[in-house]
Amino acid sequence: MYEDRILRAGLEALIISPKQAAALFKDQMVVASSGFTKSGDSKAVLAALAERAKADPLKITLMTGASLGHDTDGMLTEAKVLSMRLPFQVDPVLRKAINNGEVLYIDQHLGETANLLKANNFPKIDIAILEATLIEADGSIVPTTSIGNSAAFAELADHIIIEINTTIPFSICGLHDIVSLGNYPNRPAIPIIAANSRVGTTSIPLNPDKIIGIVITNTTDSPAEIAPADETTSAIAARLVAFFADEVKKGHLTKSLLPLQAGIGKVANSVLSGFIDGDFEHLTMYSEVLQDSTFDLLDSGKLDFASGSSITVSEPYYEKIFCNLEHYKNKVVLRPQDISNSAAIIRRLGVIAINTALECDIYGNVNSTHVSGTNMMNGIGGSGDFSRNAYLSIFVTQSLAKGGAISSIVPMVSHVDHTEHDVDIIVTEQGLADLRGLAPRQRAKVIIENCAHPDYKADLLDYFERASKRGGQTPHLLEEAFSCYIRLRETGTMRRS
Ligand code: COA
Repeated sequence: MYEDRILRAGLEALIISPKQAAALFKDQMVVASSGFTKSGDSKAVLAALAERAKADPLKITLMTGASLGHDTDGMLTEAKVLSMRLPFQVDPVLRKAINNGEVLYIDQHLGETANLLKANNFPKIDIAILEATLIEADGSIVPTTSIGNSAAFAELADHIIIEINTTIPFSICGLHDIVSLGNYPNRPAIPIIAANSRVGTTSIPLNPDKIIGIVITNTTDSPAEIAPADETTSAIAARLVAFFADEVKKGHLTKSLLPLQAGIGKVANSVLSGFIDGDFEHLTMYSEVLQDSTFDLLDSGKLDFASGSSITVSEPYYEKIFCNLEHYKNKVVLRPQDISNSAAIIRRLGVIAINTALECDIYGNVNSTHVSGTNMMNGIGGSGDFSRNAYLSIFVTQSLAKGGAISSIVPMVSHVDHTEHDVDIIVTEQGLADLRGLAPRQRAKVIIENCAHPDYKADLLDYFERASKRGGQTPHLLEEAFSCYIRLRETGTMRRS
Protein backbone atom coordinates (compact mmCIF):
# COMPACT_ATOMS: atom_id res chain seq x y z
CA MET A 1 0.00 0.00 0.00
CA TYR A 2 1.52 3.29 -1.05
CA GLU A 3 -1.45 5.43 -2.11
CA ASP A 4 -1.52 7.24 1.23
CA ARG A 5 2.21 7.98 0.91
CA ILE A 6 1.93 10.12 -2.24
CA LEU A 7 -0.14 13.08 -1.15
CA ARG A 8 0.85 15.30 -4.09
CA ALA A 9 -1.76 14.91 -6.81
CA GLY A 10 -0.55 13.53 -10.13
CA LEU A 11 2.73 12.00 -8.94
CA GLU A 12 1.41 8.41 -8.96
CA ALA A 13 1.97 8.49 -12.72
CA LEU A 14 5.71 8.61 -12.04
CA ILE A 15 5.83 5.23 -10.28
CA ILE A 16 8.37 2.99 -12.02
CA SER A 17 10.20 -0.23 -11.25
CA PRO A 18 13.77 -0.22 -9.89
CA LYS A 19 14.89 -1.57 -13.29
CA GLN A 20 13.21 1.32 -15.12
CA ALA A 21 14.80 3.73 -12.66
CA ALA A 22 18.25 2.19 -13.24
CA ALA A 23 17.82 2.80 -16.98
CA LEU A 24 17.65 6.57 -16.34
CA PHE A 25 21.35 6.79 -15.40
CA LYS A 26 24.01 7.61 -18.01
CA ASP A 27 27.74 7.00 -18.08
CA GLN A 28 29.81 9.62 -16.15
CA MET A 29 26.84 10.99 -14.24
CA VAL A 30 27.24 12.50 -10.78
CA VAL A 31 24.77 10.65 -8.60
CA ALA A 32 23.75 11.44 -5.03
CA SER A 33 21.92 9.10 -2.70
CA SER A 34 20.37 9.37 0.71
CA GLY A 35 21.91 7.14 3.36
CA PHE A 36 23.91 7.77 6.49
CA THR A 37 25.73 4.96 8.31
CA LYS A 38 23.53 2.33 6.65
CA SER A 39 20.26 4.14 7.44
CA GLY A 40 17.74 5.69 5.10
CA ASP A 41 19.70 4.58 2.05
CA SER A 42 18.57 3.64 -1.45
CA LYS A 43 17.53 0.00 -1.18
CA ALA A 44 16.29 -0.67 -4.71
CA VAL A 45 17.58 1.78 -7.33
CA LEU A 46 21.33 1.51 -6.59
CA ALA A 47 21.01 -2.29 -6.40
CA ALA A 48 19.21 -2.28 -9.78
CA LEU A 49 21.94 -0.02 -11.17
CA ALA A 50 24.60 -2.54 -10.13
CA GLU A 51 22.57 -5.27 -11.86
CA ARG A 52 22.14 -3.21 -15.02
CA ALA A 53 25.88 -2.44 -15.19
CA LYS A 54 26.69 -6.15 -15.51
CA ALA A 55 25.25 -6.14 -19.05
CA ASP A 56 25.44 -2.43 -19.80
CA PRO A 57 28.57 -0.97 -18.18
CA LEU A 58 28.65 2.60 -16.92
CA LYS A 59 30.67 4.63 -14.44
CA ILE A 60 29.36 7.18 -11.98
CA THR A 61 30.56 9.41 -9.18
CA LEU A 62 28.51 8.52 -6.11
CA MET A 63 28.04 10.75 -3.10
CA THR A 64 25.91 10.02 -0.07
CA GLY A 65 25.48 11.18 3.49
CA ALA A 66 27.81 8.49 4.81
CA SER A 67 27.98 4.69 4.44
CA LEU A 68 25.32 2.59 2.69
CA GLY A 69 23.76 -0.65 3.90
CA HIS A 70 22.75 -3.86 2.12
CA ASP A 71 26.26 -4.32 0.67
CA THR A 72 25.28 -1.72 -1.92
CA ASP A 73 28.78 -0.22 -2.09
CA GLY A 74 30.17 -3.73 -2.53
CA MET A 75 27.70 -4.58 -5.31
CA LEU A 76 28.41 -1.32 -7.14
CA THR A 77 32.15 -1.93 -6.80
CA GLU A 78 31.92 -5.49 -8.12
CA ALA A 79 29.84 -4.25 -11.06
CA LYS A 80 32.59 -1.63 -11.67
CA VAL A 81 30.06 1.22 -11.49
CA LEU A 82 32.01 3.50 -9.17
CA SER A 83 34.66 5.81 -10.55
CA MET A 84 34.58 8.09 -7.52
CA ARG A 85 32.97 7.79 -4.09
CA LEU A 86 32.53 10.34 -1.31
CA PRO A 87 32.34 11.29 1.55
CA PHE A 88 32.47 8.05 3.67
CA GLN A 89 32.26 4.26 3.37
CA VAL A 90 32.73 1.16 5.49
CA ASP A 91 32.38 -1.58 2.88
CA PRO A 92 35.20 -4.19 2.72
CA VAL A 93 34.88 -4.71 -1.07
CA LEU A 94 34.90 -0.98 -1.78
CA ARG A 95 37.72 -0.50 0.74
CA LYS A 96 39.84 -2.96 -1.22
CA ALA A 97 39.06 -1.23 -4.52
CA ILE A 98 39.92 2.15 -3.00
CA ASN A 99 43.23 0.82 -1.70
CA ASN A 100 43.97 -0.83 -5.07
CA GLY A 101 43.43 2.53 -6.76
CA GLU A 102 40.42 1.24 -8.74
CA VAL A 103 37.96 3.65 -7.13
CA LEU A 104 38.88 7.24 -6.27
CA TYR A 105 37.73 8.17 -2.79
CA ILE A 106 37.30 11.61 -1.24
CA ASP A 107 37.45 11.08 2.51
CA GLN A 108 35.67 14.20 3.67
CA HIS A 109 34.49 15.84 6.89
CA LEU A 110 30.81 14.87 6.83
CA GLY A 111 29.75 18.40 7.74
CA GLU A 112 31.44 19.78 4.62
CA THR A 113 29.94 17.98 1.63
CA ALA A 114 26.80 20.11 1.46
CA ASN A 115 28.90 23.29 1.77
CA LEU A 116 31.12 22.27 -1.14
CA LEU A 117 28.10 21.50 -3.27
CA LYS A 118 26.30 24.73 -2.41
CA ALA A 119 29.41 26.74 -3.23
CA ASN A 120 29.62 25.01 -6.65
CA ASN A 121 33.01 23.54 -5.75
CA PHE A 122 31.97 20.14 -6.99
CA PRO A 123 30.32 19.04 -10.28
CA LYS A 124 26.55 19.38 -10.35
CA ILE A 125 24.44 16.42 -9.28
CA ASP A 126 22.64 14.86 -12.23
CA ILE A 127 20.32 12.54 -10.30
CA ALA A 128 19.63 12.20 -6.58
CA ILE A 129 17.94 9.10 -5.15
CA LEU A 130 16.17 9.92 -1.91
CA GLU A 131 14.45 7.46 0.40
CA ALA A 132 11.23 8.87 1.83
CA THR A 133 8.40 7.89 4.13
CA LEU A 134 5.94 9.91 2.07
CA ILE A 135 5.56 12.80 -0.33
CA GLU A 136 3.53 15.65 1.16
CA ALA A 137 0.88 17.56 -0.81
CA ASP A 138 3.34 20.43 -1.34
CA GLY A 139 5.89 18.05 -2.89
CA SER A 140 8.19 18.03 0.15
CA ILE A 141 9.33 14.62 1.40
CA VAL A 142 9.44 13.16 4.89
CA PRO A 143 12.75 11.30 5.17
CA THR A 144 13.10 7.93 6.91
CA THR A 145 15.76 6.81 9.39
CA SER A 146 18.39 9.35 8.39
CA ILE A 147 18.64 12.77 6.82
CA GLY A 148 22.31 12.99 5.99
CA ASN A 149 22.80 15.20 2.94
CA SER A 150 19.30 14.60 1.52
CA ALA A 151 18.10 18.17 2.00
CA ALA A 152 21.12 19.54 0.09
CA PHE A 153 20.74 16.87 -2.61
CA ALA A 154 17.03 17.73 -3.01
CA GLU A 155 17.90 21.39 -3.37
CA LEU A 156 20.81 20.97 -5.79
CA ALA A 157 20.17 17.91 -7.98
CA ASP A 158 18.84 18.37 -11.52
CA HIS A 159 16.60 15.30 -11.25
CA ILE A 160 15.28 13.23 -8.37
CA ILE A 161 14.13 9.66 -7.94
CA ILE A 162 12.18 9.00 -4.74
CA GLU A 163 12.22 5.59 -3.07
CA ILE A 164 9.12 5.39 -0.90
CA ASN A 165 9.76 2.85 1.83
CA THR A 166 6.47 1.37 2.99
CA THR A 167 8.02 -0.29 6.06
CA ILE A 168 8.54 3.07 7.76
CA PRO A 169 5.65 3.86 10.12
CA PHE A 170 3.76 7.13 9.64
CA SER A 171 4.56 7.92 13.25
CA ILE A 172 8.05 8.93 12.10
CA CYS A 173 6.52 12.17 10.77
CA GLY A 174 7.63 14.94 13.11
CA LEU A 175 10.95 13.32 14.05
CA HIS A 176 12.98 15.38 11.59
CA ASP A 177 14.07 19.01 11.82
CA ILE A 178 15.13 20.35 8.43
CA VAL A 179 16.86 23.67 8.05
CA SER A 180 19.21 24.89 5.34
CA LEU A 181 22.43 26.71 6.18
CA GLY A 182 21.97 28.95 3.13
CA ASN A 183 24.75 30.44 1.04
CA TYR A 184 27.65 32.78 1.77
CA PRO A 185 27.95 35.67 2.32
CA ASN A 186 24.50 35.97 3.84
CA ARG A 187 24.24 32.89 6.02
CA PRO A 188 21.88 33.41 8.92
CA ALA A 189 22.76 32.04 12.38
CA ILE A 190 21.03 28.73 13.08
CA PRO A 191 19.24 29.27 16.41
CA ILE A 192 19.98 25.84 17.89
CA ILE A 193 20.78 26.64 21.52
CA ALA A 194 20.27 23.17 23.01
CA ALA A 195 20.31 19.57 21.77
CA ASN A 196 16.51 19.57 21.72
CA SER A 197 16.04 22.87 19.83
CA ARG A 198 13.71 22.53 16.85
CA VAL A 199 14.23 25.25 14.30
CA GLY A 200 13.07 23.93 10.94
CA THR A 201 10.45 21.94 9.09
CA THR A 202 9.55 18.27 9.43
CA SER A 203 9.93 17.55 5.71
CA ILE A 204 12.51 18.32 3.03
CA PRO A 205 11.40 21.01 0.58
CA LEU A 206 11.54 19.67 -2.97
CA ASN A 207 10.43 20.95 -6.35
CA PRO A 208 8.16 18.14 -7.63
CA ASP A 209 8.99 19.06 -11.23
CA LYS A 210 12.43 17.52 -10.65
CA ILE A 211 10.99 14.08 -9.85
CA ILE A 212 11.62 11.66 -12.73
CA GLY A 213 10.57 8.47 -11.00
CA ILE A 214 9.08 7.07 -7.82
CA VAL A 215 10.04 3.56 -6.73
CA ILE A 216 8.13 1.72 -4.01
CA THR A 217 10.22 -0.43 -1.64
CA ASN A 218 9.56 -2.51 1.44
CA THR A 219 13.05 -3.31 2.68
CA THR A 220 14.20 -2.19 6.11
CA ASP A 221 17.66 -0.76 6.88
CA SER A 222 20.59 -3.16 7.23
CA PRO A 223 21.00 -3.73 10.95
CA ALA A 224 24.07 -2.31 12.65
CA GLU A 225 26.55 -4.99 13.59
CA ILE A 226 28.30 -3.78 16.69
CA ALA A 227 30.50 -6.15 18.64
CA PRO A 228 29.40 -6.30 22.28
CA ALA A 229 31.51 -4.65 24.97
CA ASP A 230 34.45 -6.77 26.10
CA GLU A 231 36.99 -6.49 28.89
CA THR A 232 39.09 -3.92 27.03
CA THR A 233 36.31 -1.66 25.80
CA SER A 234 34.61 -1.84 29.21
CA ALA A 235 37.88 -0.78 30.84
CA ILE A 236 38.08 2.22 28.50
CA ALA A 237 34.48 3.12 29.34
CA ALA A 238 35.14 2.80 33.08
CA ARG A 239 38.17 5.12 32.86
CA LEU A 240 36.15 7.75 31.03
CA VAL A 241 33.23 7.52 33.43
CA ALA A 242 35.67 7.96 36.35
CA PHE A 243 37.20 10.98 34.56
CA PHE A 244 33.80 12.62 34.17
CA ALA A 245 32.88 11.87 37.79
CA ASP A 246 36.08 13.66 38.78
CA GLU A 247 35.30 16.64 36.55
CA VAL A 248 31.92 16.90 38.30
CA LYS A 249 33.60 16.64 41.71
CA LYS A 250 36.00 19.45 40.78
CA GLY A 251 33.06 21.61 39.72
CA HIS A 252 34.18 21.77 36.06
CA LEU A 253 30.97 20.11 34.91
CA THR A 254 27.56 19.37 36.40
CA LYS A 255 26.10 15.85 36.56
CA SER A 256 24.43 16.63 33.21
CA LEU A 257 27.90 17.15 31.69
CA LEU A 258 27.52 18.86 28.29
CA PRO A 259 25.93 17.44 25.13
CA LEU A 260 27.70 14.21 24.18
CA GLN A 261 28.84 13.05 20.76
CA ALA A 262 30.04 9.50 20.25
CA GLY A 263 31.64 8.15 17.11
CA ILE A 264 31.12 4.85 15.36
CA GLY A 265 32.50 1.43 16.21
CA LYS A 266 32.51 -0.95 19.12
CA VAL A 267 34.75 1.18 21.35
CA ALA A 268 32.58 4.32 21.09
CA ASN A 269 29.37 2.32 21.55
CA SER A 270 30.75 0.63 24.63
CA VAL A 271 31.93 3.95 26.08
CA LEU A 272 28.48 5.47 25.69
CA SER A 273 26.89 2.45 27.38
CA GLY A 274 29.32 3.07 30.27
CA PHE A 275 27.45 6.27 31.19
CA ILE A 276 24.56 4.11 32.40
CA ASP A 277 26.65 3.06 35.39
CA GLY A 278 27.82 6.56 36.30
CA ASP A 279 26.29 9.11 38.66
CA PHE A 280 24.94 11.33 35.90
CA GLU A 281 21.53 12.83 35.26
CA HIS A 282 19.69 14.70 32.50
CA LEU A 283 22.38 13.93 29.93
CA THR A 284 21.86 15.09 26.35
CA MET A 285 23.48 14.10 23.05
CA TYR A 286 24.34 16.33 20.11
CA SER A 287 25.79 13.69 17.84
CA GLU A 288 25.46 12.31 14.33
CA VAL A 289 24.80 8.58 14.63
CA LEU A 290 22.34 7.39 17.26
CA GLN A 291 23.37 3.80 18.04
CA ASP A 292 21.96 1.10 20.35
CA SER A 293 23.73 2.69 23.30
CA THR A 294 21.79 5.96 22.78
CA PHE A 295 18.51 4.12 23.26
CA ASP A 296 19.87 2.19 26.27
CA LEU A 297 20.75 5.53 27.83
CA LEU A 298 17.31 6.98 27.02
CA ASP A 299 15.63 3.89 28.49
CA SER A 300 17.81 4.07 31.61
CA GLY A 301 16.49 7.56 32.32
CA LYS A 302 20.04 8.99 32.28
CA LEU A 303 19.67 10.62 28.87
CA ASP A 304 16.93 13.20 28.34
CA PHE A 305 17.37 13.92 24.65
CA ALA A 306 19.42 12.87 21.61
CA SER A 307 20.02 14.84 18.43
CA GLY A 308 21.59 13.09 15.43
CA SER A 309 21.46 12.64 11.69
CA SER A 310 20.63 8.94 11.66
CA ILE A 311 19.28 6.10 13.75
CA THR A 312 21.62 3.17 13.10
CA VAL A 313 20.77 0.28 15.38
CA SER A 314 20.84 -3.50 15.55
CA GLU A 315 17.79 -5.59 14.62
CA PRO A 316 16.18 -5.94 18.08
CA TYR A 317 16.61 -2.22 18.75
CA TYR A 318 15.15 -1.37 15.32
CA GLU A 319 11.96 -3.26 16.19
CA LYS A 320 11.78 -1.78 19.67
CA ILE A 321 12.26 1.80 18.43
CA PHE A 322 10.00 1.68 15.41
CA CYS A 323 7.19 -0.08 17.30
CA ASN A 324 7.42 2.64 19.99
CA LEU A 325 8.21 5.71 17.94
CA GLU A 326 5.60 7.85 19.69
CA HIS A 327 7.47 7.13 22.95
CA TYR A 328 10.86 8.18 21.54
CA LYS A 329 9.67 11.02 19.32
CA ASN A 330 9.86 13.73 21.95
CA LYS A 331 13.31 12.50 22.99
CA VAL A 332 15.01 12.29 19.59
CA VAL A 333 15.48 14.61 16.63
CA LEU A 334 17.18 13.95 13.27
CA ARG A 335 18.92 16.80 11.46
CA PRO A 336 20.75 17.34 8.14
CA GLN A 337 24.42 16.43 8.61
CA ASP A 338 25.67 19.96 7.93
CA ILE A 339 23.56 20.95 10.97
CA SER A 340 24.34 17.96 13.23
CA ASN A 341 28.03 18.48 12.40
CA SER A 342 28.02 22.28 12.22
CA ALA A 343 31.18 23.74 13.75
CA ALA A 344 29.26 26.79 14.97
CA ILE A 345 26.63 24.76 16.79
CA ILE A 346 29.09 22.23 18.23
CA ARG A 347 31.14 25.09 19.65
CA ARG A 348 28.09 26.96 20.92
CA LEU A 349 26.73 23.93 22.75
CA GLY A 350 30.14 22.90 24.13
CA VAL A 351 29.86 19.34 22.87
CA ILE A 352 31.94 16.61 24.50
CA ALA A 353 33.23 14.63 21.52
CA ILE A 354 34.26 11.01 21.96
CA ASN A 355 35.77 9.43 18.86
CA THR A 356 37.95 6.45 18.08
CA ALA A 357 41.55 6.45 16.94
CA LEU A 358 43.35 3.74 15.05
CA GLU A 359 46.53 5.11 16.61
CA CYS A 360 47.80 8.13 18.54
CA ASP A 361 51.32 9.42 18.80
CA ILE A 362 53.23 10.41 21.89
CA TYR A 363 52.38 14.09 21.32
CA GLY A 364 48.64 13.57 20.83
CA ASN A 365 48.23 13.53 17.04
CA VAL A 366 45.57 11.03 16.00
CA ASN A 367 45.15 8.78 12.96
CA SER A 368 41.58 7.52 12.58
CA THR A 369 41.66 6.47 8.95
CA HIS A 370 44.86 5.12 7.38
CA VAL A 371 46.37 1.78 8.38
CA SER A 372 50.16 2.16 8.39
CA GLY A 373 49.66 5.58 6.83
CA THR A 374 48.57 4.11 3.53
CA ASN A 375 45.48 1.93 3.44
CA MET A 376 42.05 3.45 4.03
CA MET A 377 40.00 1.88 6.79
CA ASN A 378 36.65 3.75 6.71
CA GLY A 379 37.15 7.49 6.63
CA ILE A 380 37.26 10.50 8.93
CA GLY A 381 33.46 10.70 9.03
CA GLY A 382 32.29 13.38 11.41
CA SER A 383 35.10 12.90 13.89
CA GLY A 384 36.96 16.01 12.67
CA ASP A 385 33.84 18.19 12.62
CA PHE A 386 33.35 17.39 16.28
CA SER A 387 36.87 17.09 17.66
CA ARG A 388 38.15 20.40 16.29
CA ASN A 389 35.19 22.32 17.72
CA ALA A 390 34.33 20.43 20.88
CA TYR A 391 34.51 21.68 24.47
CA LEU A 392 36.40 18.46 25.17
CA SER A 393 37.88 16.35 22.41
CA ILE A 394 38.40 12.77 23.54
CA PHE A 395 39.93 9.91 21.57
CA VAL A 396 39.62 6.31 22.68
CA THR A 397 41.52 3.31 21.37
CA GLN A 398 42.64 -0.08 22.55
CA SER A 399 46.36 0.08 23.36
CA LEU A 400 47.07 -2.93 21.12
CA ALA A 401 45.72 -4.10 17.77
CA LYS A 402 46.05 -7.38 15.88
CA GLY A 403 46.70 -9.51 18.91
CA GLY A 404 49.48 -7.26 20.20
CA ALA A 405 51.45 -7.07 16.95
CA ILE A 406 50.56 -3.38 16.74
CA SER A 407 50.90 -0.68 19.39
CA SER A 408 48.19 1.97 19.05
CA ILE A 409 50.57 4.45 20.70
CA VAL A 410 53.43 5.22 18.31
CA PRO A 411 56.26 7.76 18.13
CA MET A 412 54.74 9.61 15.15
CA VAL A 413 51.38 8.74 13.61
CA SER A 414 51.64 7.59 10.03
CA HIS A 415 48.73 9.81 8.96
CA VAL A 416 47.21 12.76 10.81
CA ASP A 417 43.45 13.24 10.98
CA HIS A 418 43.31 15.14 14.26
CA THR A 419 46.27 17.27 15.26
CA GLU A 420 47.74 17.60 18.73
CA HIS A 421 46.06 21.03 18.83
CA ASP A 422 42.61 19.42 18.64
CA VAL A 423 43.03 16.54 21.06
CA ASP A 424 42.37 17.01 24.79
CA ILE A 425 42.15 13.49 26.18
CA ILE A 426 43.40 10.07 25.05
CA VAL A 427 42.07 6.94 26.71
CA THR A 428 43.09 3.32 26.37
CA GLU A 429 42.29 0.42 28.65
CA GLN A 430 45.67 1.17 30.30
CA GLY A 431 44.68 4.64 31.43
CA LEU A 432 43.74 8.19 30.55
CA ALA A 433 46.01 11.03 29.45
CA ASP A 434 44.59 14.48 30.13
CA LEU A 435 46.58 16.68 27.78
CA ARG A 436 44.90 19.97 28.61
CA GLY A 437 47.43 22.59 29.62
CA LEU A 438 50.43 20.42 28.75
CA ALA A 439 53.26 21.24 26.34
CA PRO A 440 54.46 18.53 23.90
CA ARG A 441 57.27 17.24 26.13
CA GLN A 442 54.85 16.93 29.04
CA ARG A 443 52.23 15.31 26.84
CA ALA A 444 54.64 12.62 25.68
CA LYS A 445 55.42 11.52 29.22
CA VAL A 446 51.73 11.35 30.21
CA ILE A 447 50.65 9.52 27.04
CA ILE A 448 53.43 6.92 27.27
CA GLU A 449 52.99 6.44 31.00
CA ASN A 450 49.16 6.31 31.07
CA CYS A 451 48.08 4.95 27.69
CA ALA A 452 50.77 2.74 26.11
CA HIS A 453 50.68 -1.01 26.63
CA PRO A 454 53.44 -2.23 28.99
CA ASP A 455 54.94 -4.28 26.13
CA TYR A 456 55.73 -1.09 24.19
CA LYS A 457 56.27 1.43 26.99
CA ALA A 458 60.06 1.06 27.35
CA ASP A 459 60.60 1.44 23.60
CA LEU A 460 58.48 4.58 23.42
CA LEU A 461 60.15 6.11 26.45
CA ASP A 462 63.59 5.33 25.03
CA TYR A 463 62.60 6.99 21.73
CA PHE A 464 61.27 10.08 23.53
CA GLU A 465 64.35 10.45 25.75
CA ARG A 466 66.79 10.13 22.86
CA ALA A 467 64.71 12.54 20.73
CA SER A 468 64.54 15.03 23.63
CA LYS A 469 68.32 15.08 23.87
CA ARG A 470 68.47 16.10 20.23
CA GLY A 471 66.06 18.95 21.06
CA GLY A 472 63.06 20.70 19.59
CA GLN A 473 59.60 21.83 20.64
CA THR A 474 58.25 18.44 19.56
CA PRO A 475 61.32 16.18 19.67
CA HIS A 476 61.63 13.50 16.99
CA LEU A 477 64.27 11.27 15.44
CA LEU A 478 63.06 11.45 11.86
CA GLU A 479 65.24 8.58 10.69
CA GLU A 480 63.54 6.37 13.27
CA ALA A 481 60.05 7.83 13.73
CA PHE A 482 58.37 5.31 11.40
CA SER A 483 60.60 2.31 12.12
CA CYS A 484 57.76 0.49 13.94
CA TYR A 485 55.75 0.37 10.68
CA ILE A 486 58.75 -0.91 8.76
CA ARG A 487 59.27 -3.60 11.41
CA LEU A 488 55.57 -4.49 11.16
CA ARG A 489 55.77 -4.84 7.39
CA GLU A 490 58.95 -6.88 7.48
CA THR A 491 58.34 -9.09 10.52
CA GLY A 492 54.57 -8.99 11.08
CA THR A 493 54.92 -7.19 14.40
CA MET A 494 56.01 -3.83 15.81
CA ARG A 495 57.69 -5.68 18.67
CA ARG A 496 61.47 -5.84 18.71
CA SER A 497 62.56 -9.46 18.74
N1 COA B 1 46.65 -0.47 12.94
C1 COA B 1 46.03 -1.36 12.13
N2 COA B 1 44.77 -1.80 12.33
C2 COA B 1 44.14 -1.35 13.42
C3 COA B 1 44.72 -0.46 14.33
C4 COA B 1 46.04 -0.02 14.05
N3 COA B 1 46.66 0.84 14.85
N4 COA B 1 43.84 -0.22 15.31
C5 COA B 1 42.73 -0.92 15.04
N5 COA B 1 42.91 -1.61 13.90
C6 COA B 1 41.95 -2.50 13.25
C7 COA B 1 41.39 -3.53 14.20
O1 COA B 1 42.27 -4.63 14.32
C8 COA B 1 40.09 -3.88 13.53
O2 COA B 1 40.38 -4.72 12.43
P1 COA B 1 39.39 -5.91 11.99
O3 COA B 1 38.16 -5.21 11.50
O4 COA B 1 40.17 -6.60 10.93
O5 COA B 1 39.16 -6.70 13.24
C9 COA B 1 39.63 -2.53 12.96
O6 COA B 1 40.81 -1.72 12.86
C10 COA B 1 38.60 -1.82 13.82
O7 COA B 1 39.17 -1.59 15.08
P2 COA B 1 38.42 -1.89 16.44
O8 COA B 1 39.44 -1.91 17.52
O9 COA B 1 37.53 -3.07 16.28
O10 COA B 1 37.62 -0.54 16.73
P3 COA B 1 36.28 0.10 16.20
O11 COA B 1 35.28 -0.87 15.67
O12 COA B 1 35.87 0.97 17.32
O13 COA B 1 36.75 1.00 14.93
C11 COA B 1 37.84 2.82 13.81
C12 COA B 1 37.77 1.92 15.05
C13 COA B 1 38.91 3.90 14.05
C14 COA B 1 38.18 2.01 12.56
C15 COA B 1 36.42 3.47 13.60
O14 COA B 1 36.00 4.07 14.80
C16 COA B 1 36.44 4.53 12.52
O15 COA B 1 36.36 4.22 11.34
N6 COA B 1 36.57 5.82 12.90
C17 COA B 1 36.70 6.90 11.96
C18 COA B 1 35.38 7.55 11.67
C19 COA B 1 34.81 8.20 12.89
O16 COA B 1 35.43 8.38 13.92
N7 COA B 1 33.59 8.58 12.82
C20 COA B 1 32.97 9.20 13.99
C21 COA B 1 31.94 10.06 13.67
S1 COA B 1 30.86 9.11 12.57
